[in-house]
Amino acid sequence: MELCRTVAELRARVNAARADGRRVALVPTMGALHAGHLSLVAEARRRADLVVVSIFVNPTQFAPNEDLASYPRTPESDLAQCREAGVDVVFAPAPAELYPAGAQTWVDVAELSQPLCGTSRPHFFRGVATVVTKLLVAAQPHVAVFGEKDYQQLQVVRRLARDLLLDVEIVGVATDREPDGLARSSRNVYLDAAMRPEALALVRALDDAEKAVAAGEHRVGVLEARVRELLARAPHAEIDYAEIRDAATLAAIETLRAPAVLALAVRFPAPRAASGHVRLIDNRVLLPQRSSGDPR
Ligand code: PAJ
Repeated sequence: MELCRTVAELRARVNAARADGRRVALVPTMGALHAGHLSLVAEARRRADLVVVSIFVNPTQFAPNEDLASYPRTPESDLAQCREAGVDVVFAPAPAELYPAGAQTWVDVAELSQPLCGTSRPHFFRGVATVVTKLLVAAQPHVAVFGEKDYQQLQVVRRLARDLLLDVEIVGVATDREPDGLARSSRNVYLDAAMRPEALALVRALDDAEKAVAAGEHRVGVLEARVRELLARAPHAEIDYAEIRDAATLAAIETLRAPAVLALAVRFPAPRAASGHVRLIDNRVLLPQRSSGDPR
């Protein structure tokens, strides 16, 4: 496995592979790697000959009051896990490598960035879209792999790749979960023993909504109210959002007529985190049932 610190080193490595006719995959991460990240690496391995993992805690997607300084950093463990997983190249640049002094160019995916996470974190998707664009330009992959856990992020990345005419296939991978159903996240380390069981409220709410839809409930207001009620059963859960939106456009809807996404963001107290809380996200795509009156 090779460790590249500069764009020039990465380009040399990727150009050599491409010249040999090898397919290149990129898996962008912020490190603190866990099994969820490794499921993306496994998908990249299936789709390409040269697997590049980027590890970069991107400053522009954190607001001044957010957890940039305290974001978990585990460089030795990250490199060991990449080596073990058969990664070919780790790209771990310093901030100045991706943001040259005086950088003033941003990628802003206007509409998809507004709702859900964009409401409480207005700066967030501009930072994500900008760094992902830079990583795609630097690594020139044939395919780039992202997790469905960050559903809105995946839609933002798909949109920017299309809008900027980037010659890359964007692949989404299903959310990897702990045995009890909690979505794996680098931030789960902040959950203490008291909050860990409460965090399962998210996946319970998703399961419940999916069952209600399967039983024929298609009214978004009714489904969202059920979800809020279930989340409220976790005494310390503080809902940031719990919304059902069109799965492709993230537009608000009143009735499920096409695939929709139920997206959740919930805060729990977490004395171990610098901010004093941990914010967990999860989602489920909901497919409307065909009613008996619908044409076949
Ligand atoms: P990070 O949170 O490190 O996540 C890197 C990738 O791993 C993302 O595509 C994310 O969706 C995926 N991922 C995280 N947990 C997962 C899980 N439990 N199952 C499947 N995939 C999972 O997301 C980011 O970093 C950053 O915003 C980034 C895209 C790297 C830009 O800075």
